[in-house]
Amino acid sequence: DWDASSIIEDQVAKIRAQVGDAQVICGLSGGVDSAVAAALVHKAIGDQLTCVFVDHGLLRKGEAEQVKHDFVEATGIKLIAVDASEDFLTALKGVSEPERKRKIIGEKFIRTFEKAQRQVIAEAGENGKEVKFLVQGTLYPDVVESGGGDGAANIKSHHNVGGLPKDLKFELVEPLRTLFKDEVRAIGTELGLPEAMVWRQPFPGPGLGIRIIGEITKERLDLLREADAIAREELTRAGLDRDIWQCPVVLLADVHSVGVQGDERTYGSPIVLRPVSSEDAMTADWSRVPYDVLATISTRITNECRQINRVVLDCTSKPPATIEWE
Ligand code: XMP
Repeated sequence: DWDASSIIEDQVAKIRAQVGDAQVICGLSGGVDSAVAAALVHKAIGDQLTCVFVDHGLLRKGEAEQVKHDFVEATGIKLIAVDASEDFLTALKGVSEPERKRKIIGEKFIRTFEKAQRQVIAEAGENGKEVKFLVQGTLYPDVVESGGGDGAANIKSHHNVGGLPKDLKFELVEPLRTLFKDEVRAIGTELGLPEAMVWRQPFPGPGLGIRIIGEITKERLDLLREADAIAREELTRAGLDRDIWQCPVVLLADVHSVGVQGDERTYGSPIVLRPVSSEDAMTADWSRVPYDVLATISTRITNECRQINRVVLDCTSKPPATIEWE
């Protein structure tokens, strides 16, 4: 029967055997898989591991801090954090077509990661060490999805912004390769990772970039971050986190709807709540969130985010709609 601590022991031994005294690099995305993979590798080889976190500025409220502070504090991991948010914003200026957004974010991410990686390699080299290994948070379902073999990294790299260029000369370390998501969470908990990280719901690599319908600007990102934080807080407070697969909060930035706020007639943008229940994101049903919870979210968002005067609920299943709006 399944036991987190014996899996950890097992993996620690395997990781040590695989990497010996070489240096290892790991990209953190803010998600549970890369965090647990990194924590496991760190437990095995300590300071031989350097993590790289590229902050693309498209994460939700508090998530970058979670990686930079809470995660580092919980694990003692060596981290290079690159704040590239200005860079990403500049590259995304004027772009509203979803697939172009994805492409720009993906490419920019890789370039930024490579730069940080060169820094890690240079620093390791000074100590006469070689950086030979790259950690990936590949799970068992990713392996199956790609038909086994080493295609798994490709699936991830095409679907996650955390994905990496294929021309890297690294050997992969994939300590989660035989595990399912719930097992990864149990291991993360056992390793003492922050709860919010371990229980984070699925979040797309391009982040809030594909939840702003229209051009991405700093103001729109900040607005969406606030609204999203309110929705998450209230869903958590209502005890719905484990029932809901994920709840995208989407800003219809180019739509202007009329409102009355205070004594004034306003033109604001609507926010869409998209709570879904699902097993694997391939199909999904819209979640029947209790009306009073929706009411609280709606009132708080329109009160606390003045530019938003309308909150709407997406009650479409997948298919025909996808989970994300872009
Ligand atoms: P859709 O919108 O296709 O989403 O029903 C299915 C699942 O995939 C996530 N998603 C993405 N994840 N990069 C990602 O890493 C992407 O470009 C992307 N688009 C959608 C979505 O959040 C859902 O969990």
